[in-house]
Amino acid sequence: YQKFWGEKMLRSKLLKLLKENKGEYVSGQKLCEQLNVSRTAVWKHINGLKNEGYQIKAHHKMGYMLSSEPDVLIYEEVSPYLSTNFIGKYYIHKSIIDSTNNFAKEIASNAPDGTIIIAEEQTSGRGRLGRSWLSQKGCGIWMSVILKPDLQPQQAINLTQVAAISVVKAIEEIVNVECKIKWPNDIILNNKKVCGILTEMSSEIDKINYVVIGIGVNVNCDNFPEELKGKATSLYLETHSKIDRKKLTGSILNNLELYYNAYLQKGFDYIRPICIEKSITIGRQIKVITNEGEIQGYAVTIDNTGSLVVDTKEAKRISIMSGDVSV
Ligand code: BTN
Repeated sequence: YQKFWGEKMLRSKLLKLLKENKGEYVSGQKLCEQLNVSRTAVWKHINGLKNEGYQIKAHHKMGYMLSSEPDVLIYEEVSPYLSTNFIGKYYIHKSIIDSTNNFAKEIASNAPDGTIIIAEEQTSGRGRLGRSWLSQKGCGIWMSVILKPDLQPQQAINLTQVAAISVVKAIEEIVNVECKIKWPNDIILNNKKVCGILTEMSSEIDKINYVVIGIGVNVNCDNFPEELKGKATSLYLETHSKIDRKKLTGSILNNLELYYNAYLQKGFDYIRPICIEKSITIGRQIKVITNEGEIQGYAVTIDNTGSLVVDTKEAKRISIMSGDVSV
């Protein structure tokens, strides 16, 4: 972990120097001095950056010159927008992967709290209830966050709500549009879904081992297949402007750490008013598919455990802990 961190920091610093002098050569000597490493180490990291898609010219006398940067969510690009203490400090980036949630679950037991896995493309992105999640290359934010909270397993549902409000706040900050939350955690813009959250957990009866929060945001995607067009959208399609994925990723993680800490310290009561304010479900006639069957009724509120309170058409008031809502 220490070694990983050291190498990441070194590469970030190198990139910072190259970026500050974009379009100009920086001598190898200067890089070595500023970074306090050997020429071989500089050369190795330059090659690493080239592999990520940076165009860097090398000249035997003049040194290295950055000429263009790729639109990728590697640590070095996102970290300038990160102000977290632990979420995203251990950061794994993949160009292509089956599913970041799968990968997260594989490494979770040995990974530090707050580790994130982020990919440019997923070949079998997964959604809730066994659905698939379209995750085309470079257009979205496909990431999973590993958390190790000291909570009861039944409280894990609140973490998906914490994640949902974090995404909504981040979109407000960076994109300047207000999204709503379809309980418990679909993010809706203009009646279509822009983000889904898939929370998975490993636990004992009374103790969580780890939680993986998978977040998929359709950012700049512009070619949804016919069958999704009525239900799914992207921030780009709704706002007609391309969004900076790096800034948005940073902001999601910053907000996630903020609300996660607040939830751990102050409980769901602190999160609840925001969930209610942003809810698109409350105040509507709804249908919910639960494990116990289908319920129809009027969504009244979200209670202090995060459950949805529904007045059913049989005139009973019930609270639902999880389910799939439609209107
Ligand atoms: C849903 O709305 O059904 C949840 C969708 C969750 C998608 C994200 S993308 C990153 C992470 N990896 C996955 O395979 N799924 C989640």
